[in-house]
Amino acid sequence: VTPSLVYHNAWLYEAIMIGLYGWHYPSRYRAIANLVPIGSRVLDVCCGPALLFRRALRERDVQYTGFDINPRFLEVVRRWGGRAVKGNLLEDRPLPTADTVIMQASLYQFLPDPAPVMRRVFAAARDQVIIAEPIRNLATSRIPFIAALAARQANAGLGDRPSRFSEDTLDAFVASLRFRMKASFRCSGGREKIYVFEPTQNDER
Ligand SMILES: C[S@@+](CC[C@H](N)C(=O)[O-])C[C@H]1O[C@@H](n2cnc3c(N)ncnc32)[C@H](O)[C@@H]1O
Repeated sequence: VTPSLVYHNAWLYEAIMIGLYGWHYPSRYRAIANLVPIGSRVLDVCCGPALLFRRALRERDVQYTGFDINPRFLEVVRRWGGRAVKGNLLEDRPLPTADTVIMQASLYQFLPDPAPVMRRVFAAARDQVIIAEPIRNLATSRIPFIAALAARQANAGLGDRPSRFSEDTLDAFVASLRFRMKASFRCSGGREKIYVFEPTQNDER
Protein backbone atom coordinates (compact mmCIF):
# COMPACT_ATOMS: atom_id res chain seq x y z
CA VAL A 1 0.00 0.00 0.00
CA THR A 2 1.39 3.45 -0.90
CA PRO A 3 1.40 6.02 1.95
CA SER A 4 -0.79 9.14 1.68
CA LEU A 5 0.74 12.26 0.13
CA VAL A 6 1.14 13.85 3.57
CA TYR A 7 3.59 11.07 4.54
CA HIS A 8 5.82 11.49 1.49
CA ASN A 9 7.66 14.61 2.39
CA ALA A 10 8.68 16.27 5.65
CA TRP A 11 8.09 19.83 4.29
CA LEU A 12 4.63 19.00 3.05
CA TYR A 13 3.86 17.28 6.35
CA GLU A 14 4.80 20.41 8.32
CA ALA A 15 2.87 22.71 5.95
CA ILE A 16 -0.26 20.62 6.47
CA MET A 17 0.19 20.62 10.25
CA ILE A 18 0.57 24.43 10.25
CA GLY A 19 -2.60 24.62 8.14
CA LEU A 20 -4.47 22.35 10.56
CA TYR A 21 -3.31 23.92 13.83
CA GLY A 22 -2.78 27.51 12.67
CA TRP A 23 -2.09 29.87 15.55
CA HIS A 24 -1.85 26.91 17.97
CA TYR A 25 0.86 25.09 15.99
CA PRO A 26 3.86 25.97 18.23
CA SER A 27 1.96 25.16 21.43
CA ARG A 28 1.38 21.64 20.09
CA TYR A 29 5.08 20.88 20.65
CA ARG A 30 5.81 23.32 23.49
CA ALA A 31 3.15 21.78 25.77
CA ILE A 32 4.85 18.38 25.54
CA ALA A 33 8.44 19.67 25.71
CA ASN A 34 7.66 21.48 28.98
CA LEU A 35 6.93 18.09 30.58
CA VAL A 36 10.30 16.58 29.64
CA PRO A 37 13.27 16.98 32.03
CA ILE A 38 16.38 18.65 30.57
CA GLY A 39 19.07 16.18 29.50
CA SER A 40 16.82 13.10 29.76
CA ARG A 41 16.36 10.26 27.29
CA VAL A 42 13.27 10.49 25.09
CA LEU A 43 11.67 7.92 22.79
CA ASP A 44 9.15 9.44 20.34
CA VAL A 45 7.06 6.59 18.88
CA CYS A 46 5.49 7.31 15.49
CA CYS A 47 7.74 10.37 15.40
CA GLY A 48 6.98 11.39 11.80
CA PRO A 49 9.50 14.01 10.60
CA ALA A 50 10.58 14.67 14.23
CA LEU A 51 8.86 18.06 14.48
CA LEU A 52 8.55 17.68 18.25
CA PHE A 53 12.34 17.35 18.46
CA ARG A 54 13.19 19.99 15.88
CA ARG A 55 10.73 22.64 17.05
CA ALA A 56 10.87 22.18 20.85
CA LEU A 57 12.70 19.24 22.46
CA ARG A 58 16.15 20.01 21.04
CA GLU A 59 16.35 23.09 23.27
CA ARG A 60 16.06 20.80 26.29
CA ASP A 61 19.23 18.91 25.36
CA VAL A 62 17.51 15.56 25.36
CA GLN A 63 18.90 12.34 23.92
CA TYR A 64 16.23 11.83 21.29
CA THR A 65 15.24 8.56 19.61
CA GLY A 66 12.58 8.63 16.91
CA PHE A 67 10.74 5.39 16.08
CA ASP A 68 8.69 5.17 12.89
CA ILE A 69 7.85 2.87 9.99
CA ASN A 70 8.62 5.52 7.36
CA PRO A 71 12.30 5.66 6.24
CA ARG A 72 11.89 9.16 4.77
CA PHE A 73 10.95 10.56 8.14
CA LEU A 74 13.74 8.63 9.87
CA GLU A 75 16.26 10.20 7.52
CA VAL A 76 15.11 13.61 8.83
CA VAL A 77 15.58 12.39 12.43
CA ARG A 78 19.19 11.43 11.63
CA ARG A 79 19.90 14.69 9.83
CA TRP A 80 18.89 16.63 12.93
CA GLY A 81 21.14 14.58 15.22
CA GLY A 82 18.60 12.15 16.66
CA ARG A 83 18.81 8.37 16.77
CA ALA A 84 16.41 6.78 14.28
CA VAL A 85 14.87 3.36 14.79
CA LYS A 86 12.74 1.80 12.06
CA GLY A 87 10.00 -0.58 13.07
CA ASN A 88 6.35 -1.52 12.89
CA LEU A 89 4.67 -0.83 16.21
CA LEU A 90 2.13 -3.54 15.45
CA GLU A 91 4.85 -6.18 15.71
CA ASP A 92 5.30 -7.66 19.15
CA ARG A 93 8.91 -6.55 19.69
CA PRO A 94 10.32 -4.50 22.60
CA LEU A 95 10.93 -0.81 21.91
CA PRO A 96 14.16 1.00 22.85
CA THR A 97 13.92 2.16 26.48
CA ALA A 98 13.90 5.83 27.57
CA ASP A 99 13.08 8.03 30.57
CA THR A 100 10.09 9.55 28.77
CA VAL A 101 8.19 7.79 26.00
CA ILE A 102 5.94 10.03 23.88
CA MET A 103 3.26 9.25 21.32
CA GLN A 104 1.74 12.29 19.62
CA ALA A 105 -1.23 12.18 17.23
CA SER A 106 -0.77 8.51 16.39
CA LEU A 107 -2.88 6.38 18.73
CA TYR A 108 -5.89 6.44 16.37
CA GLN A 109 -3.85 4.52 13.81
CA PHE A 110 -4.07 1.46 16.03
CA LEU A 111 -7.85 1.46 16.44
CA PRO A 112 -9.99 -0.56 17.02
CA ASP A 113 -7.72 -1.96 19.77
CA PRO A 114 -4.62 0.10 20.58
CA ALA A 115 -4.11 -1.72 23.94
CA PRO A 116 -1.37 -4.17 22.79
CA VAL A 117 0.58 -1.26 21.27
CA MET A 118 0.19 0.70 24.50
CA ARG A 119 1.60 -2.19 26.54
CA ARG A 120 4.82 -2.02 24.47
CA VAL A 121 4.93 1.77 24.85
CA PHE A 122 4.60 1.60 28.64
CA ALA A 123 7.15 -1.24 28.91
CA ALA A 124 9.78 1.03 27.29
CA ALA A 125 9.33 3.91 29.79
CA ARG A 126 11.45 4.40 32.92
CA ASP A 127 9.77 7.54 34.34
CA GLN A 128 6.76 8.64 32.31
CA VAL A 129 4.61 8.16 29.24
CA ILE A 130 3.06 11.14 27.44
CA ILE A 131 0.17 10.52 25.08
CA ALA A 132 -1.10 13.47 23.01
CA GLU A 133 -4.00 12.75 20.70
CA PRO A 134 -6.37 14.83 18.57
CA ILE A 135 -9.89 14.99 19.98
CA ARG A 136 -11.30 17.36 17.37
CA ASN A 137 -10.39 16.55 13.82
CA LEU A 138 -11.41 16.58 10.23
CA ALA A 139 -11.94 12.81 9.98
CA THR A 140 -14.92 13.05 12.33
CA SER A 141 -16.34 15.98 10.35
CA ARG A 142 -20.08 15.82 9.71
CA ILE A 143 -19.37 16.71 6.10
CA PRO A 144 -18.86 13.24 4.52
CA PHE A 145 -16.50 14.47 1.79
CA ILE A 146 -14.13 16.14 4.32
CA ALA A 147 -14.24 13.08 6.60
CA ALA A 148 -13.40 10.71 3.72
CA LEU A 149 -10.54 12.93 2.58
CA ALA A 150 -9.06 13.18 6.09
CA ALA A 151 -9.28 9.40 6.58
CA ARG A 152 -7.42 8.80 3.31
CA GLN A 153 -4.67 11.21 4.33
CA ALA A 154 -3.98 9.07 7.41
CA ASN A 155 -2.52 6.15 5.48
CA ALA A 156 1.06 5.54 6.65
CA GLY A 157 1.43 2.68 4.17
CA LEU A 158 -0.60 0.09 6.04
CA GLY A 159 -4.08 1.04 4.74
CA ASP A 160 -6.65 3.81 5.36
CA ARG A 161 -7.38 4.80 8.96
CA PRO A 162 -11.01 5.97 9.06
CA SER A 163 -11.52 5.93 12.87
CA ARG A 164 -10.58 8.71 15.28
CA PHE A 165 -11.10 9.42 18.97
CA SER A 166 -13.50 11.88 20.52
CA GLU A 167 -12.63 13.24 23.96
CA ASP A 168 -15.04 10.74 25.58
CA THR A 169 -13.76 7.66 23.76
CA LEU A 170 -10.14 8.72 24.41
CA ASP A 171 -10.80 9.28 28.14
CA ALA A 172 -12.44 5.85 28.31
CA PHE A 173 -9.57 4.18 26.50
CA VAL A 174 -6.80 5.67 28.68
CA ALA A 175 -8.77 4.83 31.85
CA SER A 176 -9.00 1.20 30.68
CA LEU A 177 -5.17 1.02 30.58
CA ARG A 178 -5.14 1.30 34.39
CA PHE A 179 -1.80 3.10 34.53
CA ARG A 180 -1.27 5.88 37.08
CA MET A 181 -2.23 9.18 35.46
CA LYS A 182 -0.30 12.22 36.75
CA ALA A 183 -2.09 14.84 34.64
CA SER A 184 -4.39 15.35 31.69
CA PHE A 185 -5.27 18.58 29.89
CA ARG A 186 -6.36 19.96 26.52
CA CYS A 187 -3.89 21.87 24.37
CA SER A 188 -3.51 23.29 20.84
CA GLY A 189 -6.69 25.35 21.24
CA GLY A 190 -8.67 22.27 22.34
CA ARG A 191 -7.66 20.17 19.34
CA GLU A 192 -5.42 17.74 21.22
CA LYS A 193 -5.51 16.23 24.69
CA ILE A 194 -2.37 15.34 26.63
CA TYR A 195 -2.16 12.58 29.24
CA VAL A 196 0.88 12.04 31.48
CA PHE A 197 1.31 8.63 33.12
CA GLU A 198 3.72 6.88 35.42
CA PRO A 199 4.66 3.51 33.96
CA THR A 200 3.08 1.69 36.93
CA GLN A 201 -0.37 0.13 37.05
CA ASN A 202 -3.01 1.49 39.44
CA ASP A 203 -2.90 -1.61 41.62
CA GLU A 204 0.93 -1.82 41.87
CA ARG A 205 3.01 -0.44 44.83
C1 LIG B 1 -0.01 11.52 12.14
S1 LIG B 1 1.71 11.09 12.08
C2 LIG B 1 2.24 11.78 13.63
C3 LIG B 1 3.67 12.24 13.56
C4 LIG B 1 4.17 13.04 14.76
N1 LIG B 1 4.05 12.28 16.01
C5 LIG B 1 3.42 14.35 14.90
O1 LIG B 1 2.56 14.50 15.78
O2 LIG B 1 3.71 15.27 14.09
C6 LIG B 1 1.69 9.35 12.37
C7 LIG B 1 3.07 8.64 12.19
O3 LIG B 1 2.91 7.27 12.59
C8 LIG B 1 3.70 6.45 11.74
N2 LIG B 1 3.15 5.08 11.80
C9 LIG B 1 1.92 4.67 11.40
N3 LIG B 1 1.74 3.36 11.63
C10 LIG B 1 2.90 2.92 12.21
C11 LIG B 1 3.33 1.63 12.67
N4 LIG B 1 2.53 0.55 12.60
N5 LIG B 1 4.58 1.51 13.20
C12 LIG B 1 5.39 2.61 13.27
N6 LIG B 1 5.03 3.85 12.85
C13 LIG B 1 3.81 4.00 12.30
C14 LIG B 1 3.58 7.13 10.38
O4 LIG B 1 4.64 6.78 9.53
C15 LIG B 1 3.59 8.63 10.77
O5 LIG B 1 4.89 9.15 10.75
